[in-house]
Amino acid sequence: MVRMETKIHILPEALCNKIAAGEVVERPSSVVKELLENSLDAGASDILIELEAGGKRLIRISDNGCGMNRQDAFLSFERHATSKIRTDTDLFALTTLGFRGEALASIASVSRLRLTTSDNDEGLGQQIYAEGGKIKSATEVGFPQGTTIEVRNLFFNLPARKKFLRKEQTELGHAADVVTKQALANPAVSFRLKHNERIMVDLRREKGVRERVAALLGRSLLSDLLPVDRQNSADLQLTGLISQPQLTRSASSHIYTFINGRYIRDRVVQHAVMDGYRHLLMKGRYPVVVLFLQIDPAQIDINVHPTKHEVRFREQSKIHDLIAESLRQTLRPAGWLDTKADTQITGQA
Ligand SMILES: Nc1ncnc2c1ncn2[C@@H]1O[C@H](COP(=O)(O)OP(=O)(O)OP(=O)(O)O)[C@@H](O)[C@H]1O
Ligand SMILES: [Mg+2]
Repeated sequence: MVRMETKIHILPEALCNKIAAGEVVERPSSVVKELLENSLDAGASDILIELEAGGKRLIRISDNGCGMNRQDAFLSFERHATSKIRTDTDLFALTTLGFRGEALASIASVSRLRLTTSDNDEGLGQQIYAEGGKIKSATEVGFPQGTTIEVRNLFFNLPARKKFLRKEQTELGHAADVVTKQALANPAVSFRLKHNERIMVDLRREKGVRERVAALLGRSLLSDLLPVDRQNSADLQLTGLISQPQLTRSASSHIYTFINGRYIRDRVVQHAVMDGYRHLLMKGRYPVVVLFLQIDPAQIDINVHPTKHEVRFREQSKIHDLIAESLRQTLRPAGWLDTKADTQITGQA
């Protein structure tokens, strides 16, 4: 007997969005990350992050970036809708943090989301409200140029995931961590973080990374940090600040590494950093590192994981050695490598 009906069916779009959301939206801090990236890509110089109940009740991010017109505002809720890439070659010439065109659609599908935006200085804006990804209302509003996105009741329609959310303070900690990372990478942008109406972080625009590190991690830290500045070629450059070996931490959470302005937690990079400190730190101790690798986007693949926390290098060992070697050279003139350790390291180079 031939059976005509199929076993396979195409899933409804709302369910696809929920599945996609599962990949990028794990907790309030994931929303904060995605929205901050959008604000930065929009060229914002002032960003306000407001949270309630650790972001579980409310996440509101306001920027003074380029904003969107009416049509774009509607399109931004669609999956695979982006202004950032057009063709597959663009994937290897990325200059923006976003490119998948999925974040807003994903976040909207698991929350109550209100987008207010304006792309002009006449004060004419658009407001769109969606519940579980379904647009419920759209109105014209008076609004200065920029964008505010309000995300309420995250996972209200995904109770299984909501159960995994932690205490308010824990979620707030994750969100604050995301703000710290973006703030380190973007010293020229002001960031304010408010939690339950209380100001937690207030960072004005700064000239450079040094000033931002001082504001974020403490001015007293600066005297123990050494500058790294290594230009390998026109499109490979390493800059930042690293701690002298006497300044250590008990966890690797103070190692901040960025590739083309994007925070990355990469195994190869992490290993290279620790390699640079080899013989200098006690077991179980970690340095404070804020390191920026600027690399030709054609040399990396960032499309590895939806959260973009990982990267693949074309020339992995070259990058590893550049980082490890630069750190060693930075630490050496400071007198921290004794001759014995020095020979060992040169021997391995
Ligand atoms: N704060 C903002 N200011 C101006 N435009 C924005 C803002 N947020 C989103 N957009 C517009 O909406 C589009 C969709 O945003 P979304 O975050 O979903 O995708 P993306 O940033 O392009 O890619 P990704 O999914 O990798 O983040 C963006 O490409 C951008 O054009
Ligand atoms: Mg985005």
